[in-house]
Amino acid sequence: MRTPPGCISPLAVLAVLATALLVGLGAARGGELFSPGELNAMAGTPLGEVDSHAALAGDCSACHPSPWDAAGLPGRCMACHTEIDAEMRSASGLHGILLEPGEDQSCQRCHTEHNGPEASLTLASLDDLRHERTGFPLDGGHAEIECAECHTGTRYAQVERTCAGCHAEPDFHAGLFPADCQSCHQTAAWVPASFPLQHPPFPVDHEDASTCRDCHPAALTAYSCDSCHGPAEMVDEHRDEGITDIRDCAGCHPTGEKDEARDRS
Ligand code: HEC
Ligand code: HEC
Ligand code: HEC
Ligand code: HEC
Ligand code: HEC
Ligand code: HEC
Ligand code: HEC
Ligand code: HEC
Ligand code: HEC
Repeated sequence: MRTPPGCISPLAVLAVLATALLVGLGAARGGELFSPGELNAMAGTPLGEVDSHAALAGDCSACHPSPWDAAGLPGRCMACHTEIDAEMRSASGLHGILLEPGEDQSCQRCHTEHNGPEASLTLASLDDLRHERTGFPLDGGHAEIECAECHTGTRYAQVERTCAGCHAEPDFHAGLFPADCQSCHQTAAWVPASFPLQHPPFPVDHEDASTCRDCHPAALTAYSCDSCHGPAEMVDEHRDEGITDIRDCAGCHPTGEKDEARDRS
């Protein structure tokens, strides 16, 4: 049944009186009466003149708004946690990427209280974080690693986003290539990589060669043909041609074609 405006039902009056009485009692006894449990006592950087939630035990209204406060509980929380407010407004930082624009920001969806001085305040897990919203998806070699391996400074603060910002050039090709690793590499794995630059005339797909290491076992700055053309055998075969110094293979076989060396000599 709808109560006509201006007319207050006796039941409502009773309810208001009862609430006022209980709230009064609660205030008189330091708020403990209605508290469903102790507040979190883990202290950190002071905010709003307290260094932990437990210090607010006598000031329930720091978190619990009056019914006519349109900003509700989140408004209370953000009065102290101003950085969360900023994150949500700018769609950056942890909460900025946890929540879609316009999504329900109610802190109590993911945070709790009154579970004792040492209980965690966070219910939500970071597993569902849509990291791709930063423009840097966590795929390939980045999928299974801890946040802290990349976010080494303050919690989830901005970090380098270029590959070279986090990964050093390997000895294998140090000094040879430009620093834009992503032009040749993907996050799935370092090897294989693409090689969009001009290779010397000796073809990388010579016969059954399939990886760079077939001819560059240690680093790209040096080559060796030994993995397929056994050194002892080569010494013998070249001796038959009257050749004893065979160190400069590519000098006599610049493209590895049959009879090329003889044609050149
Ligand atoms: C630091 C913020 C904070 C302070 C201070 C605080 N509360 Fe809470 N309170 C919460 C949050 C958050 C919840 C919601 C917990 C949940 O849903 O898991 C809650 C829930 C409650 C509930 C249960 C409401 C429900 O929906 O189940 C009551 C009752 C309550 N608080 C009373 C108090 C009283 C009394 C005080 C003062 C002694 C107090 N609270 C101080 C944050 C606070
Ligand atoms: C009066 C200021 C104040 C209010 C209001 C307040 N907090 Fe806090 N909060 C703090 C302080 C101080 C700490 C402890 C300092 C720290 O951890 O950096 C803290 C810690 C936290 C932490 C843990 C931070 C961490 O580093 O793990 C969470 C989560 C949190 N508050 C959420 C809330 C939520 C949700 C509300 C509203 C229900 C709320 N706070 C209301 C001051 C406040
Ligand atoms: C492989 C490295 C890597 C890992 C692992 C990683 N991140 Fe990131 N994160 C980045 C990069 C790169 C950016 C983008 C930085 C930028 O845009 O300046 C970023 C951005 C962010 C941002 C936005 C920062 C801002 O200020 O806008 C948050 C929040 C974040 N990461 C949280 C996490 C969390 C939580 C985890 C663990 C679940 C995680 N990241 C794991 C590399 C990583
Ligand atoms: C969708 C879930 C979600 C919502 C909604 C949410 N948070 Fe969080 N919050 C998290 C997660 C997840 C963490 C990270 C916990 C961790 O690092 O393990 C976090 C961390 C925090 C921290 C610790 C500091 C930090 O940045 O890591 C504070 C303070 C905090 N939240 C306050 C709030 C406040 C205030 C609100 C409401 C305005 C809110 N959160 C809404 C999920 C949420
Ligand atoms: C914010 C730092 C950061 C950025 C930016 C970053 N990485 Fe990583 N990456 C890591 C960390 C940390 C690991 C895990 C530890 C390791 O293997 O070095 C990793 C691992 C990898 C792996 C797996 C290595 C293995 O042995 O399994 C590959 C491949 C990789 N990254 C490629 C890239 C590429 C390509 C880029 C640029 C598109 C890039 N990374 C950008 C931090 C970063
Ligand atoms: C011009 C293309 C190119 C660029 C730019 C490039 N790489 Fe490479 N990288 C390669 C090729 C090709 C290989 C060898 C792949 C193979 O063995 O099949 C390689 C191999 C690697 C390896 C594996 C080395 C080993 O020991 O097997 C790592 C790690 C690596 N690169 C990291 C990087 C990083 C970090 C950057 C940026 C600082 C970068 N690369 C820039 C082409 C490139
Ligand atoms: C079948 C043999 C062979 C294969 C496979 C091969 N290379 Fe080479 N590479 C050579 C030879 C021979 C030279 C030296 C040519 C010369 O000095 O005239 C060379 C030279 C180079 C150089 C020049 C080094 C310098 O110091 O300037 C680069 C860079 C290079 N190779 C990259 C690669 C990459 C990347 C791969 C894999 C995609 C690869 N090579 C696969 C035979 C090979
Ligand atoms: C992955 C194996 C492999 C590597 C590495 C390799 N080769 Fe070959 N090469 C072959 C095969 C297989 C043939 C064709 C059969 C044969 O004659 O041995 C061949 C043929 C040749 C021929 C022509 C011989 C003929 O009579 O057909 C020359 C010259 C040659 N290689 C030189 C080189 C040089 C120089 C290098 C090092 C820069 C090199 N090869 C590295 C596998 C390789
Ligand atoms: C001074 C020049 C010279 C050098 C250095 C040299 N070769 Fe040769 N090589 C020749 C000539 C000449 C022949 C015979 C004609 C031909 O196949 O072109 C030959 C033949 C070959 C053949 C074919 C052999 C056969 O009959 O099956 C291979 C394979 C070969 N060389 C590989 C190499 C490798 C690998 C090196 C370095 C370890 C090397 N050569 C160094 C000149 C040279």
